[in-house]
Amino acid sequence: MPAHKPAFCLSNSHTRTLCVLFTHELVIFTQIFFMTSKRLIVFLFLLVTLRTYADDTLTLFSPNHNIRLTVNRQSDGQLKYGVYYKQKFFIKPSALAMKLSTPDVLLNKFDIVRADQKQLDESWKPVWGEVSTIRNNYQELALQLKDRSGSGILMNIVFRAFDDGVAFRYEFPTQQKLNHFVVADEMTQFCVGADHNTFWIPGDFDSNEFQYNHTRLSEVDASNSKMTNEIFAKFFFDKNAVQTPLMMKSDDGLYINIHEAALVNYPAMDLVIDKSTFTLNSRLVPDAVGNMAYLQTPSHTPWRTIIVSDKAPDILASKMILNLNEPSKIADPSWIKPQKFVGVWWEMHIGKSSWDYSGGQVGSQQAAKVPHGANTANVKKYIDFAAKYGFDAVLVEGWNTGWEDWFGQWKENVFDFVTPYPDYDVNELTAYAKSKGVKIICHHETSASVTNYERWMDTAYRFMINHNMNSVKTGYVGHIIPRGEHHDGQWMVNHYVRVAEKTAGYKIMVDMHEPVRPTGLQRTYPNWVACEAARGNEFNAWSVGNNPDHETILPFTRLMGGPMDYTPGLFRIKLNQFDTTKKEQIHTTLAKQLALYVTMYSPLQMAADLPENYEQHLDALQFIRDVAVDWDDTKILDAEPGDYIIEARKAKAKDSWFLGAISDENARNFTEPLTFLDADLPAGQAGKKYVATIYCDADNADWQKNPEAYKIEKFIVDSKTKLKLKLAPGGGTAISLVPANADEVKQYKKYK
Ligand code: NOJ
Ligand code: CA
Repeated sequence: MPAHKPAFCLSNSHTRTLCVLFTHELVIFTQIFFMTSKRLIVFLFLLVTLRTYADDTLTLFSPNHNIRLTVNRQSDGQLKYGVYYKQKFFIKPSALAMKLSTPDVLLNKFDIVRADQKQLDESWKPVWGEVSTIRNNYQELALQLKDRSGSGILMNIVFRAFDDGVAFRYEFPTQQKLNHFVVADEMTQFCVGADHNTFWIPGDFDSNEFQYNHTRLSEVDASNSKMTNEIFAKFFFDKNAVQTPLMMKSDDGLYINIHEAALVNYPAMDLVIDKSTFTLNSRLVPDAVGNMAYLQTPSHTPWRTIIVSDKAPDILASKMILNLNEPSKIADPSWIKPQKFVGVWWEMHIGKSSWDYSGGQVGSQQAAKVPHGANTANVKKYIDFAAKYGFDAVLVEGWNTGWEDWFGQWKENVFDFVTPYPDYDVNELTAYAKSKGVKIICHHETSASVTNYERWMDTAYRFMINHNMNSVKTGYVGHIIPRGEHHDGQWMVNHYVRVAEKTAGYKIMVDMHEPVRPTGLQRTYPNWVACEAARGNEFNAWSVGNNPDHETILPFTRLMGGPMDYTPGLFRIKLNQFDTTKKEQIHTTLAKQLALYVTMYSPLQMAADLPENYEQHLDALQFIRDVAVDWDDTKILDAEPGDYIIEARKAKAKDSWFLGAISDENARNFTEPLTFLDADLPAGQAGKKYVATIYCDADNADWQKNPEAYKIEKFIVDSKTKLKLKLAPGGGTAISLVPANADEVKQYKKYK
């Protein structure tokens, strides 16, 4: 560590230079170096006793010093933290406090017992992901605190400064004065101190399936969520409340993202805006009796995360949230496979068939009867399609009894997850799928009756294994049972983790719909391959839909916590083609649907449209067949929340790249140099030739007027090529880049 750049320092109001002095004196204390076969961990440990300082400031720098976190203990013992990015003070002094009940104590004034610092720089390999290796590099400051009010309770606050942001959490160590306790409130503040531009959805205890709003913080009004009719189970609580991940942009160009990491055994955190100071105050999701969390020492809260940069692509590239999660608990993850699937699914959402055997349309008042979708013959059609075009699996919804009476009644015993409808021959389909080399993805809609699901889980997973299924999509539509619990409260957070653990025990991968928003737990449970936890493509089928900028916001918000099962790949954009009375349409062009396979990262990707629609566009389907779902590398080439995203990703263990570019409602042009190809060659030297297959909007394409117009062109490119991308309003471009053989180099024109 260079002497002029202390990573950790202490100063007080009287002694400005103490910071450097402290560093010089203390660096010599203890240095412990651990060597392992794979990595070098440099572990620097400093111990400082701070009791003597009345008004202390501790400072923690990130490894590259772009980020500086200060923790100030005021003379009355209150603790405040602040954060600088390249000298900009973007989190102003913000309080840190917890309120417990049983015992009834407000933990907001402290003595600092100890301050420990350590540094970690390691790399690890995710089971699947956007990159093959992730660097985890931070400086940590752990404060051991003692409540000043006389309770004698000990609490730690641990801060980590990364080059892309800061994180902190509260910890309750084993101690004599505290064993079991109830959290009544967490009083964490994020004082951003200015009226930033914000991409937000309403704070809510049950749903995250809202349209994004783009306003100033002062203009947030979450009460409009009460008018969102298409979301049945929602819980409005404060007009100034928003959810995390919250994406903000300051007028001086800082991108700030607030979320949490490793949400386990604790409720999710919403944020309530104090518009007089632009302070965001934590608001935990309560349980059925109004408590927030039941804990026992030793325990801790999730990490509170603040990711920051002056470049929007850095926000998307951040791996801080994953780094704050525990390593995988699955010793042998070889059975976990990223996959692409089709499904008996969209046809129900557009009203062509039903989940319900009796043909009623779920959730609608429509008297018209439609065929039951999950019948043996229809599922075979999907299996044939999957086998023919190389999809790994077929999702089947509506296969099990219960759909006649599943919705909106707060009914406890709805589904048993093992009894198929009479027209669904589970044994025949198991054998048929196996003969075609295709997996069936099981569907467990719980209708939010979670007590019922908990009783059936083992039986249901055994049924899956007996029928050769190793992936399940779960769902939590409705008001939770236990009644009074919320989707985002501690009880449900523990349920989702229980499902991840239990499915892992059966070697089953899980994709959860309507769960709490993800917080990076896919690192710990890599079988938890995806979640919905936001407004998916399905809303385009039966609601006002998703604005054309929706997918340019999701990666900056919801996807910060983990992959989303967004269900892209819709080719029939105007739904009156299925049913002349339908006015809905997807807010997209066809080419943009292809680009989403790159820009909406998930190891589980659906090709959501109907087989017959794909068969009319086999040339465009080719991109979905080719695109990878697991990656060695990702380059965020250009991005601006709410406007556009351009990314390139290198397929895992292959030499192919895929590029996706999407726009909001505006037409946009970009020139993208392909320097990422052969990035290992000296600058400017063009190496390998690639065949670029460009799937783009036709010249006259427009998401409203002409959404299905696309064109496909092939060129020879290399790392010196500068590609011109022309995106239609609501449009996109998808490109596959595959090493060219000698014949192809002759066959296709060089890109100019
Ligand atoms: C909502 C889910 O998001 C959707 O994918 C599913 O088809 C329905 N619930 C029925 O379970
Ligand atoms: Ca949903």
